[in-house]
Amino acid sequence: MTSNKVWTDIGGWIARLLNPKPSPETEIMSTLLHINSSVRINGSASRQLTSEFVAKWQAAHPNGRIVERDLAVAEVPHLTEQTIGAFFTPADQRSAEQLDAVRLSDELVAELVAADVIVIGAPMYNFSVSSALKAWIDHIARAGVTFKYTETGPVGQLTGKKVIVFTSRGGVYSEGPAKSMDFHETYLRGVLGFVGLTDVTFVHTEGLALGDESTATAFSKTRLAMADLVAA
Ligand SMILES: Cc1cc2nc3c(=O)[nH]c(=O)nc-3n(C[C@H](O)[C@H](O)[C@H](O)COP(=O)(O)O)c2cc1C
Repeated sequence: MTSNKVWTDIGGWIARLLNPKPSPETEIMSTLLHINSSVRINGSASRQLTSEFVAKWQAAHPNGRIVERDLAVAEVPHLTEQTIGAFFTPADQRSAEQLDAVRLSDELVAELVAADVIVIGAPMYNFSVSSALKAWIDHIARAGVTFKYTETGPVGQLTGKKVIVFTSRGGVYSEGPAKSMDFHETYLRGVLGFVGLTDVTFVHTEGLALGDESTATAFSKTRLAMADLVAA
């Protein structure tokens, strides 16, 4: 062995000692925010699938932290005049009532800011998201907080996060005659991107009202996609 090779080997060994490749046990703790929005607590396809994904993610990231946000259990109210008034009042000038009015929104935004991975269960209701998920969106899309107006237009602030949306749908919208009625992915992709969440993967489990075979095929396809997404 030449002396150069010996020094290269020793150098590599020292580098590995100082910067070991992180194993799942030693990697920096990441946080997954798990959001469900089906009003069905039992028998919900989107809940079933987000739960399966989160369990797999936890197995792959034993140090990972999971934060649960269930929009059917802890309902987010519709916006009111008082809430939007509080949103548009500078934080240091808010009254006690206005501080109360923004508390939930601030909590929901803080959950997003702290998350590295965001998993959303999103059933299709009337060609778009459930009103529970829409109410959550109304509380997290905040001018001056999650997006800012600049000279070149609005800029989303929630950058550097990965989002995975598990949709569930009675019909089929990813292809075929109903494609133009998909205001579900198009809306979510648009509004998430507006607040800076641009790395979004949609996994559609659809055709759930079209019989047992269609349902079984849809679940199998989603579970296959899930395995790749956990590994990514
Ligand atoms: C109020 C309501 C509206 C729905 N609207 C649609 C729709 O527009 N298109 C569709 O394909 N399925 C629709 N469905 C079917 C759901 O998308 C489907 O049952 C899905 O599995 C619901 O998600 P979940 O199983 O997680 O509750 C609707 C269901 C409900 C309860």
